[in-house]
Amino acid sequence: MARSSSRYVCQECGYEAHKWMGKCAGCGAWNTLVEETDSADVDAQVPDLSGDGASTSNGASKHGAPERLTAVEMEGEARLQTGVEELDRVMGGGIMQGGFSLIAGDPGIGKSTLMTELGGYLPDSDILYVTGEESKRQVKMRAQRLGVDSETLYLLAETNVQQLADAVHQVEPDLLIVDSIQTIYRPDLSSAPGSVSQVRESTASLRKLTKEKEFSTFLVGHVTKKGTIAGPRVLEHMVDTVLYFEGDNNHAYRILRTVKNRFGAANEIGVFEMREDGLQEVPNPSELFLSERGYGVSGSTVVCSLEGTRPILVEIQALVTPTSYNTPQRTVTGFASQRLQMILAVLEKRSGLAFSDHDVFVNVAGGVTLDEPAVDLGVAIAAASSFRDIPADTGSVLIGEVGLGGEIRTVSQIEPRLKEAAKLGFERAVVPENNLDRIAGDYNLDVAGAEELRDVVDLVL
Ligand code: TYD
Ligand code: MG
Repeated sequence: MARSSSRYVCQECGYEAHKWMGKCAGCGAWNTLVEETDSADVDAQVPDLSGDGASTSNGASKHGAPERLTAVEMEGEARLQTGVEELDRVMGGGIMQGGFSLIAGDPGIGKSTLMTELGGYLPDSDILYVTGEESKRQVKMRAQRLGVDSETLYLLAETNVQQLADAVHQVEPDLLIVDSIQTIYRPDLSSAPGSVSQVRESTASLRKLTKEKEFSTFLVGHVTKKGTIAGPRVLEHMVDTVLYFEGDNNHAYRILRTVKNRFGAANEIGVFEMREDGLQEVPNPSELFLSERGYGVSGSTVVCSLEGTRPILVEIQALVTPTSYNTPQRTVTGFASQRLQMILAVLEKRSGLAFSDHDVFVNVAGGVTLDEPAVDLGVAIAAASSFRDIPADTGSVLIGEVGLGGEIRTVSQIEPRLKEAAKLGFERAVVPENNLDRIAGDYNLDVAGAEELRDVVDLVL
């Protein structure tokens, strides 16, 4: 029988200690340990929610026996297609049957909106929408606003995981939506809803249920100010797919990004626009990100970043001005500031541009975040262009990683990038010299190879 004991659990990372500490030894956060009294071996007793009682003991024979790879039946990889390409792509080609997914994001970003819209996208699937934050009326009001009135969408306002499971047995849904996982609790645990152990144990129960009944589940999760999923990071390890819904409130568009996916590529993005009548997919994000581009101004370049499997063109803006401080400022949004420091140092050393008495501001237009080395060249040229106050060639897309020696290094998947550039009417692309022999197709694009950063500075400016 489980012994009841007290433990201290970090609300950020789930680290457990026997005594209180000011600083979590797991993640280093301060003041995050909270006392939780639970039976000691709570992990071992995920309650059986399957309803037929037998499945746990039969479970072993169903999944346990070794089988030849060639003999394993695929049973036709079943995925629910929403028909919304931006969403299906992010899910790796549709919502996997038996898939257990988490969609996380800031409050107000549009998670509940997207989940409600699923009702409209999947009129032939039974969907159970469990709301722990809003009343059924509120959900209905939103659904009306979004024009969703599906006969097969069931609403349940409930936070007790046991009741939730009963509803699942009753409805037998194809898709379960839990909004949000932070409100769900297991009554046999004494800690408060939203605490690490409640979130973790409720998730474990729901996961078991999802896998046994082979429906798909979406958990909605909130994100803390620091950008991590509120409460446990452990949640990320318990689900098959982690999606982040990003975007800032000053922009109408939202990016749904796959951070982890057991059933498809990670880093895939889907772009949506938040409108009066809900989220609208944006099938060509490059067009959107370039729509407000300035022409004939110095400090602006266009780069091509590969987001998952999709190339996206984005404008980089830089502003370089003489500093009035002892330490010049480096302000950057949407790009790693350390990477910028490195690029500036390379420009200074290899091209003789002295940034040390200049403030440098770099902005990735449209609120996108880029973390691909292939955008280095565009950032470097934007900075150089602003420094010299000479506009860069507006018909060029710049692709390449910048090395410490000022060399332009090879990037992956050059062809899809060129294709996207040509599609959007660009005339020229500057690519790493070593990539040239990997370009087989003709993209109706003047492709120039570059070996050294300083050559590009001379070429484009
Ligand atoms: P919501 O989906 O409730 O956010 P979350 O569940 O992530 O907290 O979205 C809330 C915001 O979206 C709110 O500020 C209103 C806005 N919104 C629209 O602009 N259009 C719409 O059709 C809907 C339903 C919401
Ligand atoms: Mg919500």
